[in-house]
Amino acid sequence: MQRACHPALAHLLHIRAKMEPLPSLSEVQSVAAEHAVLRAIFQQHQEALVGLLFVHALADLEEFARRLHRHIRIEELTLLPAYAALADLPRTGAPEFFIQEHRKIEEGLDDILNGMRSISPGPGSSRAVVALMDKETRFKSLLEHHEVREEQDLFPRLTAAVSPGASNPSRRTA
Ligand SMILES: [Fe+2]
Ligand SMILES: [Fe+2]
Repeated sequence: MQRACHPALAHLLHIRAKMEPLPSLSEVQSVAAEHAVLRAIFQQHQEALVGLLFVHALADLEEFARRLHRHIRIEELTLLPAYAALADLPRTGAPEFFIQEHRKIEEGLDDILNGMRSISPGPGSSRAVVALMDKETRFKSLLEHHEVREEQDLFPRLTAAVSPGASNPSRRTA
């Protein structure tokens, strides 16, 4: 059933129309595997933060940010355009939702990076760490919610579409 096209969805389908071929199975699997790597780096950052090891905590968070930005870019340029072209996507897994969530995740990431960069050793640092941990708890919740939906909808459906022997997936029309 054709529905009104959200601007983010139109953008994805526009990219898809210019792309050939579909992402490979190993590309999809490699992007999916990055979720665990990202979680591990963020955990390492938080362990350094609660240990008041600010130099390490900042380095880990900056590494996390670099990887997350790259991860999002690959999803938006390669995976989501191919996913958006598949037929019968679930409402909860609409491709435009993933794009909207990416923008919220990037805003949250900028906020916690700014918070981390403003912390320095000395009086008041413990208070600043607690405030940053509160922000990070909200950020983690947003990111986990997003990742769970990608793991439920985006990766399995795309994997099925690009796996060897997959029947020609029916496609939506732009
Ligand atoms: Fe994502
Ligand atoms: Fe992801």
